[in-house]
Amino acid sequence: MKILIIGSGGREHAIGWKINQNPKVEKLYFSPGNAGTLALGENLPSMSIEQLAEFAKEKAIDLTVVGPEAELSMGIVDLFQANGLKIFGPNKKAAMLEASKAFSKDFMTQYGIKTAQYQNFTNLDLALEYLETQSFPLVVKASGLAAGKGVVICQNKTEAIEAVRTMLSGDAFGKAGEEIVIEEFLEGFEASILSIFNGKEITPFVSAKDHKKIENGEKGLNTGGMGVIAPNPLFTKEHQLMFEKEINQPTLKGLLAEGLIFSGVIFYGLMITSKGVYLLEYNMRMGDPETQTLLPLMESDFLELILDAIDQKPLEIKWKDQSACCVVMVSGGYPKDFEKGFEISGLENLEIPYFVAGAQMEQNKMINTGGRVLNLVSCQPTLQAAREKVYQEISKVKYNKAYFRTDIGEI
Ligand code: AMP
Ligand code: GLY
Repeated sequence: MKILIIGSGGREHAIGWKINQNPKVEKLYFSPGNAGTLALGENLPSMSIEQLAEFAKEKAIDLTVVGPEAELSMGIVDLFQANGLKIFGPNKKAAMLEASKAFSKDFMTQYGIKTAQYQNFTNLDLALEYLETQSFPLVVKASGLAAGKGVVICQNKTEAIEAVRTMLSGDAFGKAGEEIVIEEFLEGFEASILSIFNGKEITPFVSAKDHKKIENGEKGLNTGGMGVIAPNPLFTKEHQLMFEKEINQPTLKGLLAEGLIFSGVIFYGLMITSKGVYLLEYNMRMGDPETQTLLPLMESDFLELILDAIDQKPLEIKWKDQSACCVVMVSGGYPKDFEKGFEISGLENLEIPYFVAGAQMEQNKMINTGGRVLNLVSCQPTLQAAREKVYQEISKVKYNKAYFRTDIGEI
């Protein structure tokens, strides 16, 4: 099979790495890919979704897997399907469950999915009026895609007024902030659950725990994720049952009722509180760095799962009886200004899988090109052993200004 993978980060490297383990794979293409994906296949330039469809037709690509939300919300799946091309991911309408928080909150309420109380606003005066009736803290969210930056937790009314004004004025997030969601603050811990929808059933993965902040102890600025462990040791069987009954099943019911039928990943962002498991958000794609953590832990053949999902066949996902710990290496300064252009060395000595997040090959040297640089992942019989291994191995990797958290998976 000839397979095209769209995206440029560690997530796409991990998808390619796992899919490549299936002997059916003849050739992998990545658009645009990175220094890591070069070892698995051919990197293509970044292309528009129309150009990608042309390329897939020309090369008779058998399957396309889409990493990032942007292409999904532009309707790449609809376009490929209209051209008779096989593709894994939600269509444009279903991708709105991520691309519009207002749409997804309305969907959750309509189908009785447990989520924070909220209201959607496009009008500044109405939003300000609503703030007068609320208690704090409170959460203000830009409805559209804002690269994970569109959520402000407001401790008091002054902060909330400021957040509402800057979002609705378009100053903060442009069009993504034209509509906002104001919602109840939930106190608890978070869990990520990815799943595969085959158009009939949603089959969840094992749970994962992201570490979003730049500094140890969950302090400092929010990032695209500094590390993930799986399974999430705080997420119990009881939580799993609540998730299944109050979130996963009603989501399935809603998707079927609304005709949102597709084959792809649904990623549930959960908050576990003293009152149960709440759905914070849907992501209609694989998580980063959840994917880099979960695929090495997956026993099943991922390509077969994707092909079965597209054919609406029942899925059974098998997992290794292990824990995974993934640590993200970044460039000093990230998530603000960071330096790039440094040579990375030592990867050839690693005894564990690594995925490239932001680096390119230049004259046979791997050079970091992004703030997020590498993901190292270890799977071991216990979480403790997985943590120890990944931190042992990470000392072998060198580049200027390398930074990573040293407490990923510390519970
Ligand atoms: P979201 O993009 O909706 O996942 O929000 C990003 C992050 O903001 C989440 O991972 C949470 O840490 C936080 N967050 C979002 N909504 C809430 C809420 N209602 N209560 C508390 N924290 C929240
Ligand atoms: N790790 C969170 C995300 O991919 O959005």
